[in-house]
Parts: sequence; C-alpha cells; structure tokens
Amino acid sequence: MQISEKSYTLKDWQGGYESLTQEFDYWIDDIEGEIPLELAGTLFRNGPGLLDINKQRLHHPFDGDGMISRITFTNGHAHFRNRFVQTEGYLAENKAGKILYRGVFGTQKPGGWLANIFDFKIKHIANTNVIYWGKKLLALWEAAEPYALNPHTLETLGNEYFNGVLSKGEAFSAHPRIDPNGTLVNFAIKPGLSTTITIFELNTNGEIIKKQNHSIPGFCFIHDFVITENYCIFFQNPVNFNPIPFALGISSAGQCIKFQKDQPTKIIIIPRIAKSENEKVQVLETQAGFIFHHVNAFEVENEIIIDSICYKSLTEVEPNTDYRETDFDANSPGQLWRFHLNLETNQVQNQLIDHRACEFPTIHPNNVGKSYRYLYSAAAHHATVNAPLQAILKVDLESQNRQLWSAAPQGFIGEPIFVPRANSQQEDDGWVIALVYDAEYHRSDVVILDAENIEKGTIAKLHLKHHIPYGLHGSFTPETFI
Ligand code: CO
Repeated sequence: MQISEKSYTLKDWQGGYESLTQEFDYWIDDIEGEIPLELAGTLFRNGPGLLDINKQRLHHPFDGDGMISRITFTNGHAHFRNRFVQTEGYLAENKAGKILYRGVFGTQKPGGWLANIFDFKIKHIANTNVIYWGKKLLALWEAAEPYALNPHTLETLGNEYFNGVLSKGEAFSAHPRIDPNGTLVNFAIKPGLSTTITIFELNTNGEIIKKQNHSIPGFCFIHDFVITENYCIFFQNPVNFNPIPFALGISSAGQCIKFQKDQPTKIIIIPRIAKSENEKVQVLETQAGFIFHHVNAFEVENEIIIDSICYKSLTEVEPNTDYRETDFDANSPGQLWRFHLNLETNQVQNQLIDHRACEFPTIHPNNVGKSYRYLYSAAAHHATVNAPLQAILKVDLESQNRQLWSAAPQGFIGEPIFVPRANSQQEDDGWVIALVYDAEYHRSDVVILDAENIEKGTIAKLHLKHHIPYGLHGSFTPETFI
C-alpha cells in the first residue's frame, strides 16, 4: 500500500484507547504463519484496560485500571487470558459504577473542584508492568506496593510486602532491572522537599536482601533507572512541582509538574556496593531533557555509558485537553541518545544515535548492565516525524545498521520484548514479540519476528478475538502457565 504524507489516521489510532471490559480465556486458533516450536514460555503484559468508568472518560490513559494479558507459547500453540487486577479502587468503582478517585494524570471525580478539594486519596491502579520473579507474579505501579497474582489463573492474591520489608503504601517502582548475576534491582521514589531514593535488591527466591536509602535535594520525577555491575544511575530531569492547584482540587498531581528547560538534568550515580567507606553518591550534570525509559548502561574503564530515549522537553498533561486529539507533530519525539559519564572528570558527553521517534526499548536479558550490541524498540514509521508507534526498530550499535518492520498504516505497536532462543550463542538469536492493534478489524495481534532479521516480516501473526487497549510494560518468562 502506498503511504502518503502520514503513516496513520488519528481515528485509527484512537481505536486502541477503547476500554476492554471482558475477560477472556482461550486457545488462539486464527494464526498466519507458524509459531516456532522452540518458543516456549509466557509473555505477560500490563496496561490500562479501562479508559472509562461506565462511560465517564478518564482524563489520561495512565489513570486506567491495570489489566494483565497473558500469552502462553507451548509446542507451537498459544493460549490467551486476560484479567483485571482486583485493586481496592477497581472493585469499589466497579460496584459504584462511577469514578470515585482522583487520578495522578488528570482524572477528577465529577463535580468540579469542590468535589476534589483536599482529596489526596490516590487510586492504586497497578497498571504499569508485570514480572514473574521468585515464583511470584507481581503487577507493578510506581507509587505503591505491588499486587501479587496467581500466574495460573491471574487471580489477585493481595498486596506484596516481601515479608514485611515494604510497609503499607510504600513505593516500589514499575521498572526493576534484572542483573544477569541473578539479582533483581528496583528502586522507589518518596517525594518531598528533598527526595528519598530507596534501592532494593531481591534474590531469586523473591526476597528483599538489601535496602538502602539516599536523600537527594529537590523534587524528582523518576520513572526508570539503569544498573551496571557497581552502580545504580538515576536521571533527575529538571521539573518542579507546585502542589497548590492539586490541593485545591483544580489540577491533578501530574498536571502540577512543570518542565524547567533552563535547568540542567542531574545524573545521580549511587554505588550498589560501596568499595570503600568514602565512596559517595556522585552527581553529574548535563543539558535539560526528559527521559522516561533507559535502554541499558555499562562500565568501560572510568566511564559509564548509558543509552536512553530522550525528549527535548516533558509533554505536560493539561487539564482541558483530550489525549485522543494529540497533535503528534507539535510534540517532540523520544530519540535514542548515548551518554558518556566520566567518573574522574565528572564530564558528561552525549550523542544522538538515531533521529527516529521511538519508545519502549528492549535488549537481550543477559546483557543488562553489560556492554551490548543490539537493541529493539517501538518506533514511528517515518524516520523524521513524530508519530504514533507503528514499527519495530532494530539498532546494531556496533555497525550502526538499522532494520525496521512496520505495521503502518493501520497497525499500532506496543512495547516489543526480545526473547532469546534457548542455548543461543549469538546476541540476536531469538524472537521479538509485540502486540499490534489493528484498526482495520479493531482487534489486536501478537506478532513474532525473527530478531536476527526483522525485515523478513512476521514468522507468525496471532489474531486475537478482540482488541487490547494500548499497554505499558510486560515481560517474558520461560515458564509456561496455562
Ligand atoms: Co515505563
């Protein structure tokens, strides 16, 4: 098909923001191509399943209740199941049939500012990520404790406190990093006049074995971080927070965050294991920008190298706008950058790796915190304009080669996940799996690509019986749950 000027229509894109209220459980039988026999395991996805409560629309998709989708691959077959996380808020609103809570990203209870004034009760929506770790399936949301789910039934078991290491309401971010040495590292942000960053390390039994706190001056809006063998690295992007409109019920918390383009980004480097008692937190500075997601980081001699998806500024959540009418051309794209942090001179150098708008990067799990060659991410169809994510980009950081597979004009893509082939030797020997919303049929597909050559097209395209609203993050485990 000839693709003129735009690779999409706004109307097609908007279809992926309809709620999915139904919960399904079935073997997928409408398949183009063949599911590789060697592909065995379970893909878990999380994201907002509800974009409205009984037709009262949420102001922003990030306020939508978490819904887990599970796709299990076994012997060339695939099984689908989805269930909502039964959070306190989901159950209460389901029963009431109306919005009862304010959302972080702009959803207000009906009734204007009088209904919202001094209401600090934020709904825990458990909608950002889902991981299977230490025999626990955990739905994550960055501002509070995880919800544990039964991986076989997706039934909600309750909040997870890791044997009392977390307290009620304590944050546990949605972006853990799994060190190939077998440790899961995660963080939490506790905002205030100064910010507390907590770092957790969990063993393979799912127990927290280390917890350290650091106080950082100023307000932080930190969604993701990176690890290396010796460090955890955080980007404190220049934003400030004015709580008054939030307290008065005029604005949500997210709307009170303002980008400060004349202030530097601070890069906070915290030793995972201090080599000496004098080893302290180092803070480096670079130009203003906003990062939601990092790709990876690693150490080379006296440098830390970090690859990240960086925006020129933070697109603010406005009170009187409709996210479904997003003017993509007016927003700055997320682009792939490489940062070189010199730990001796405290200098930071950065370089743009690729112009194309991209988000949701993924790499081989064995290379987290280590030098690596390949990354994959969701990306815009055209190389030079900001647009919805419709393609998958593969970047070879060594040769600078690029590969692109696109689902345009009517396909819209979520976070891809790289799944290595068992016992593979080569870094890109495996598959890239993603959910694609197909606006033509208002349904979603699971696509499987050969990671070595994504330009060959899909190995298999699994048509679901329904759509899945655009999701956030997920993960793959070689264990199979049906
Ligand atoms: Co994220």
